[in-house]
Amino acid sequence: MTPVKDSPSPGARNGGKGERRPPLQTPGVPMRYPRWQPAYSVQVQDFDAAHRTLIELAEALIHAVERPGTGASTRDVLDDLVECTVAHFEEEERVLRELDWPGLPTHLEAHDLLLRTLLKFKADLRYGRLTPEETADFITDWVVAHILDEDRQYCDYLHARGVR
Ligand SMILES: [Fe+2]
Ligand SMILES: [Fe+2]
Repeated sequence: MTPVKDSPSPGARNGGKGERRPPLQTPGVPMRYPRWQPAYSVQVQDFDAAHRTLIELAEALIHAVERPGTGASTRDVLDDLVECTVAHFEEEERVLRELDWPGLPTHLEAHDLLLRTLLKFKADLRYGRLTPEETADFITDWVVAHILDEDRQYCDYLHARGVR
């Protein structure tokens, strides 16, 4: 499935450094359910907390898709996910800008693409161009991949400057 033409496959990205990243899935947990694990940490408390929330929302999205009518609707969860993503991106960008992180321009582009993708998925879902399952699968992969592949690139830089 490639719902967004110019979007790289989340699984294919690894920051371009050939680093190995931890597997997306926790042993014993089906692939489609993302769960926070310590290997996802970017060593900054507030960012880890925000990432946990995003991952929980991605999981909530899957639940909403799988059990329609029993809890929050897919659309409501997507709205929350967009809202939390925007707030987190703003805070992350503020800190990275303040500390002159050299990777900022690339990271801004990644945030921009991710946000546009989320909004596109919202619209696609609304107008019936994507199934809820496709939407949940892709968003879950994408959110986790951004944390693992792109956010973790700033860990050492921020840590060296006393950000915890
Ligand atoms: Fe992040
Ligand atoms: Fe980020």
